[in-house]
Amino acid sequence: MRKTEFPPAYTLPDGRRVTIRTLTEEDLPALEWEGEYRHFRRLYQQHYTNCQHGNNVCWVACDADDRAIGQVFILLNARDVNVADGQHRAYLFSFRIRPEWRNQGLGNYIMSFVEEQLLLRGFLWLRLNVAKDNPAARRLYERRGYVVVGAEPGIWRYQDDAGEWQTVEEPAWKMIKALR
Ligand SMILES: CC(C)(COP(=O)(O)OP(=O)(O)OC[C@H]1O[C@@H](n2cnc3c(N)ncnc32)[C@H](O)[C@@H]1OP(=O)(O)O)[C@@H](O)C(=O)NCCC(=O)NCCS
Repeated sequence: MRKTEFPPAYTLPDGRRVTIRTLTEEDLPALEWEGEYRHFRRLYQQHYTNCQHGNNVCWVACDADDRAIGQVFILLNARDVNVADGQHRAYLFSFRIRPEWRNQGLGNYIMSFVEEQLLLRGFLWLRLNVAKDNPAARRLYERRGYVVVGAEPGIWRYQDDAGEWQTVEEPAWKMIKALR
């Protein structure tokens, strides 16, 4: 019988405490930071709705005032079963921590938490894409046992907060980890 090794709370080396909980609708404005991520407003709302339908699970890391300072979203069910099949394979995306909370082990802790939660739900594989121009994030994943299994052009479209379609081109490495 597995035991849960990662309670949803982490104390940074500087003493600040962070709790991890599921995303609520009230958190959505905080995910836009100071407007830097306003263009993803509709996308975040959609991800939140997908959580309500059970296709996604979204977690936020919160400061002592319960304000979201980090986020990680997991796709459980995708159209492409190679990405997420709702049973054994899940896909991590939109993993982001506010700069003043980085480089203190929180990212690694959130990954541990996510992997444990997915294992408890019966998932065996976690997939993610990391931008080719983000070697620091790739390093974090490799330290945790993720391996590159291919490359993707990383072209996708979304409707911004004004309803305009935007195209993103972010060449990425496909990575995967066997969770046990
Ligand atoms: C990627 C991201 C989520 C990682 O979060 P983080 O909290 O900084 O991650 P960690 O602190 O666990 O690890 C980052 C580094 O800090 C180091 N670190 C961990 N604890 C530390 C501590 N107590 N003191 C100093 N450094 C520490 C780690 O060794 C790691 O070093 P490295 O860069 O040499 O590999 C964060 O950098 C981020 O939001 N980046 C922008 C968005 C992004 O790139 N997301 C990933 C998309 S795939």
